[in-house]
Amino acid sequence: MMSQEQNDLITRTGPGTAAGKVLRRYWQPAALAEELVSSRPVVPVTLLGERLVLFRDDDGELGLIARHCPHRGADMCFGRLEDNGLRCPFHGWHFDRTGQCVEQPAEPEGSRMHENVRTVSYPVIEKNGIIFAYLGAGDPPPFPAFDCFEAPESHVFAFKGLWECNWLQALEVGIDPAHASFLHRFLQDEDPNEGYGKQFRDRAAGTDIPMTQVLREYPRPDINVEETDYGLRIISLRHLADGRTHVRVTNQVFPEAICIPMSNEMTITQWHVPVDDGNCYWYSMFTSFGKPVDKALMREQRLKEHRLPDYAPLKNRSNNYGYDPEEQKDRTYTGMGLDINVHDQWAVESMGRIQDRREEHLGKSDAAIIRYRRMLRSAIEAAGKDDAASMPMAVDAARAAAITGPVAVDAIADAGQDWLETYVAADQARRAACAWANAR
Ligand code: FES
Ligand SMILES: [Fe+2]
Repeated sequence: MMSQEQNDLITRTGPGTAAGKVLRRYWQPAALAEELVSSRPVVPVTLLGERLVLFRDDDGELGLIARHCPHRGADMCFGRLEDNGLRCPFHGWHFDRTGQCVEQPAEPEGSRMHENVRTVSYPVIEKNGIIFAYLGAGDPPPFPAFDCFEAPESHVFAFKGLWECNWLQALEVGIDPAHASFLHRFLQDEDPNEGYGKQFRDRAAGTDIPMTQVLREYPRPDINVEETDYGLRIISLRHLADGRTHVRVTNQVFPEAICIPMSNEMTITQWHVPVDDGNCYWYSMFTSFGKPVDKALMREQRLKEHRLPDYAPLKNRSNNYGYDPEEQKDRTYTGMGLDINVHDQWAVESMGRIQDRREEHLGKSDAAIIRYRRMLRSAIEAAGKDDAASMPMAVDAARAAAITGPVAVDAIADAGQDWLETYVAADQARRAACAWANAR
């Protein structure tokens, strides 16, 4: 149990907050690249409570500047995209992508006032379908050599969705291995051959058992949590009745991502990014170790469940997440359909905008959440002292290049077989058979 102050400390991320200072030390997903595919590539972005506008200029370069014009505050999202920058429609002040004001056409001829006017501007970079922004002080850190960044563009599909809750409770559902046995329980198994692009619809690795059956019949995993150079490795063991052990390896990637297996072919790297303290986006990179990703199919599956342009889910609080008590009797544990994103969304939104952690009771199954909060608090302390070197992944380019994986895999250990060797071997076999992982 924690105090209100402690809960505020780890949940609030706006400008000037302690946890916000931690998150600002890392690249943050700001938009999907597909959002800028239009005849006028300008989109509003609210990130860590900061109102910004993202655009692509005539040179194809990205800019991320303050939403409000530094003249008298008009909304730059309605700006004219011209001359490699954005021009405010109110009085024509023109900003380049670095935020420098380059022209003030209503000021007297020859005025040099514009030279002293700059608006907020942040570095941005595009990686496999996601545009990342760096909102912190100093130079941005190097990207680690994670699979989702190293895989060719053909093997990564990116998508996002809006959840109306604080980022931390959204992240915490992703490092809670027991919930999948309940929240995502299917009371009947579907045909795993129909499961492309969906979580938990494959067979358990190396078996004919649907993942849904493993999760349903073995709800009490042993959970091992290890600290790593990128965050936490979470190993969940489900001891099957026939003596074999199902090993599931998932990860917390500091500060606010997870990396988990989705199927035998694909992993999901998912960030939970604060819009403000009461809303967040999940951004996912689905990375295939097998065939190129069928992006059209995966996008179509997800667009059926979300509306544009804000990627808000169609099932939500206003329609009870599609809750159907008849379905809950004999098809799903939640009665909210087969899309597991909706289950997670209900779980985290139903806590309230910011979960009241003064009232919670953590158990053994919450081991990774407890460890994560400890890591976050020590990073908050380090950031408070500007001791970036004590924060996970605060490393130089050479060391970042050595941070690979992370291993996210499902595997089955035969009776008597060491589960550690089993998952390492399963991961190595997958990489050995993967064209792009092998070419590295
Ligand atoms: S408010 Fe933008 S130019 Fe005046
Ligand atoms: Fe979940």
